[in-house]
Amino acid sequence: MKKLLTLTVNGRLREDAVAENALLIDYLRDALGLTGTKQGCDGGECGACTVLVDGEPRLACSTLAHSVAGHHIETIEGLSTEGNLSRLQRAFHEHLGAQCGFCTPGMIMAAEALLRRNPQPSRDEIRAALAGNLCRCTGYVKILDSVEAAARCEDAAGVAA
Ligand code: FES
Ligand code: FES
Repeated sequence: MKKLLTLTVNGRLREDAVAENALLIDYLRDALGLTGTKQGCDGGECGACTVLVDGEPRLACSTLAHSVAGHHIETIEGLSTEGNLSRLQRAFHEHLGAQCGFCTPGMIMAAEALLRRNPQPSRDEIRAALAGNLCRCTGYVKILDSVEAAARCEDAAGVAA
């Protein structure tokens, strides 16, 4: 049975009729067309579906859409502004953090939450923040390099890009 779901997605207020048992990932991908959020496993193990709920990383594949009613959801699509990549998106591109790219949205969302609360993370802090995100291409060194580069970019600018 569907009921009205009200929440904010990437800064936009949404009101949609959504099945009571719908998962957040299905609502985002199927109802809103935000297919940047990926489903990589059968549930809860790979981190590919990571989005931010009120700024905190959350697995969209194991979150009921109605459980985040009234909250602010951010997906990978919400990070770029007016066609410009965010500092993390740019760093992943420039430092080869994305190989096949399937894990990349989840990695970037987890890293985004980290850099907001800790703009100068150590390598170990980055590793810990991304511990729940698996990369099937196993390019972890480049992923860590990319997050470090994004942090340096933020420092150089003095503000979040
Ligand atoms: S798709 Fe959500 S953890 Fe793998
Ligand atoms: S870049 Fe391919 S799964 Fe990570």
